[in-house]
Amino acid sequence: MGIAEDIMAPEGWHAALAALAWQVDLGVAEVVGDGPIDRYELPETSANPLPKLAPAPARSAPTPAPPMAPSGDEAVAAARFAAERAANLDDLRQALAAFDHCELKKGARNLVFSDGNPKARVLILGEAPGREEDLEGRPFVGRAGQLLDRMFAAIGLSRSSPDPAAAVYITNVMPWRPPQNRDPEANEIAMMRPFVERHIALVDPDVIVLVGNTPLQAILNTKGILRARGTWATALGKPVLPMTHPAYLLRNPAAKREAWADLLNLKAKLR
Ligand code: URA
Repeated sequence: MGIAEDIMAPEGWHAALAALAWQVDLGVAEVVGDGPIDRYELPETSANPLPKLAPAPARSAPTPAPPMAPSGDEAVAAARFAAERAANLDDLRQALAAFDHCELKKGARNLVFSDGNPKARVLILGEAPGREEDLEGRPFVGRAGQLLDRMFAAIGLSRSSPDPAAAVYITNVMPWRPPQNRDPEANEIAMMRPFVERHIALVDPDVIVLVGNTPLQAILNTKGILRARGTWATALGKPVLPMTHPAYLLRNPAAKREAWADLLNLKAKLR
């Protein structure tokens, strides 16, 4: 049977659909051709050989080649430059949308900026968008996000409340989905930190909740959320409470008891 006949058979159709869904899960967003191209294959002989260059004059010291891409430091400096100029949240969203130094942007469908009430007393900082968030352009809308909503609702806080005292504002360290939901890398976190700092300064919450390891690394420069959770720290002039990520709680329901203690701790702080 040829490929077309395989796909026409009912089981072939289902297998092809499953293979396509798998590709989408991996982050494939578009098809660029019908056949594979081996871009590493070099032609054996070149039809148009490059013209020979005259020999370079002898130099006393080698001149370094100009960098092909900005170094990590340059990208962080560009991020700081852009973020500091944002006078409000709309400016900041536009600055992020125009920021081209982060590779994750190329694979993402949407910029995931924030959700909730910008006047909220509580700012929740997550890690990075997943598949649903990338599709919808809003943070925490998948299964973990639904659990997050239920957790905060249990202490009277919601992203849809117009009352700042009963509201939360939600954003992530990374505004673009990492491929296959991998953890953001240290250089990606460093590049986004100026935007996160500006975001927090513009919202000016009373309290920041860090959910998961990525915001812990971005804000408190440390790792190990299971050790750090539940202990108040101070960063950017604000009280900061690290908590376990709701995706972790979905995988480890026994950890919900500690998460509940952390929520009560937060509620007491807000009183
Ligand atoms: N996990 C996060 O940390 N953020 C989201 O927006 C979704 C899942």
